[in-house]
Amino acid sequence: MSVAAAVILAAGKGTRMKSDLVKVLHQLAGRPLLGWPLAAAREAGAGRIVVVAGHQFDRVQQAYSTDADIVFALQEEQLGTGHAVSCSLPQLEGLHGAVLILCGDTPLLTGTTLRRLVQEHAVSSAAVTVLTARLDMPFGYGRIVRDADGRVRRIVEQRDATPEEQAITEVNSGIYCMDLAFLRAHIGRLGSENAQNEYYLTDLVGIAVAEHAGCGAVVADDPEEIMGVNDREQLAYASGLLRRRINRQLMLSGVSLVDPDKTYIDAEVKIGADSIIWPGCVLRGVTTIGCRCILESNVQIDGCSIVDDVHVKTGSVLSGSRVAEHASIGPMAHLRPGSVLGSHVKIGNFVETKKIVMGEGSKASHLTYLGDAEIGSEVNIGCGTITCNYDGVKKHRTVIGDGVFVGSDVQLVAPVTVGAGALIAAGTTVTRDVPADSLALSRTPQVNKEGWCLKKKAND
Ligand code: UD1
Ligand code: CA
Repeated sequence: MSVAAAVILAAGKGTRMKSDLVKVLHQLAGRPLLGWPLAAAREAGAGRIVVVAGHQFDRVQQAYSTDADIVFALQEEQLGTGHAVSCSLPQLEGLHGAVLILCGDTPLLTGTTLRRLVQEHAVSSAAVTVLTARLDMPFGYGRIVRDADGRVRRIVEQRDATPEEQAITEVNSGIYCMDLAFLRAHIGRLGSENAQNEYYLTDLVGIAVAEHAGCGAVVADDPEEIMGVNDREQLAYASGLLRRRINRQLMLSGVSLVDPDKTYIDAEVKIGADSIIWPGCVLRGVTTIGCRCILESNVQIDGCSIVDDVHVKTGSVLSGSRVAEHASIGPMAHLRPGSVLGSHVKIGNFVETKKIVMGEGSKASHLTYLGDAEIGSEVNIGCGTITCNYDGVKKHRTVIGDGVFVGSDVQLVAPVTVGAGALIAAGTTVTRDVPADSLALSRTPQVNKEGWCLKKKAND
């Protein structure tokens, strides 16, 4: 059983976030808030997703502009959840069957639970199936009013509920599976005669019952799944739970997290088996890490592809880079975007790289800046080497051939090319190309003045 589409309500501002950014675009565990229910809807098989946006419509649309399965509906004024869904109807034209209705601010909802909802909807043939949860503290939620036989009769909002109804602990998640034909036929009947003067989507439940179209319910196994995020405290809480899920999944798949409570891994990160991640690591963006890698403590990786058997030592920061097998990075190394490192490369402490290609087995072990450079294989870059790539206006390239030995404290003033097999003597400032297999040496000849210090002391 599948659904034709999902509608995600995300037009609200999120006042309690106290933010210039609309609530559904706040990030948690590597996705915007909206991205979580969206992923769950996809998992449940929704082929088309209609996002109802209002506040900062353009920013929300921009955030998902490349997703072909997402269309947007504008709800200019937030007149209630019923009104929001009616705004999505034009985008559902031509579709038949069932539609999922979700909230953009419930990041903990799983695809598994949504599939259960869809399944139950299909077998019961009710017009509406609502996802509910039992909460010890139901305050604020709509309550599920059932009859003596346990059948759902209607949903009453907190502010419209009698004291008896307020005692009900089964609450509305705001997540439903609905028959599209029923939705189209009856959504126009919603009124706004209630405590909030809003068009309540929840009133469709009462309508379904009155029309004998049927309303079923699925109780969420874990009430936390329906938790909405309204402020930054809830955002942090939900982030923590999502991170725990991500970490658990990784550990089950064979990744060792030395201290999972202190390891921060985003949703789109993939890690191979037998990798070991030490505490304080932050792995973000679309990042892939191979098998048997070691990430020592406090390593930050964002948008990188790292293959097998790579060792990243403590305190290193890697972004937008690619690292081949058996490479060793750090401690305290900084790979900036566009760094492409070959197998068995060694990048040591206090080395910064940017837009470089470094061939197999090459090493820069200490205190070095390599930017806009093409470095061959088996190259040794001595301590304190600097590619002087920027003249204040433009960036220039440095090319270093295979097997070159660059001594310590060398400046390579780009654009410059060093031929394969050359040797650059320590302390050299390279301003002209160096032919292959040659020695380049530029030093002010040393002068030793014997006894000079003794004479100076005597004169002082
Ligand atoms: C709604 C339900 C309530 C349920 C709760 C679960 C109604 C009337 N009530 O209440 O039974 O327990 O969710 O969290 O539906 N939205 C729009 N446009 C609008 C109004 C809301 O897009 O005009 C969006 C919001 O951005 C949010 C979602 O719909 O993502 C829920 O809206 P919210 O105002 O939080 O509903 P509640 O009052 O919490
Ligand atoms: Ca809410």
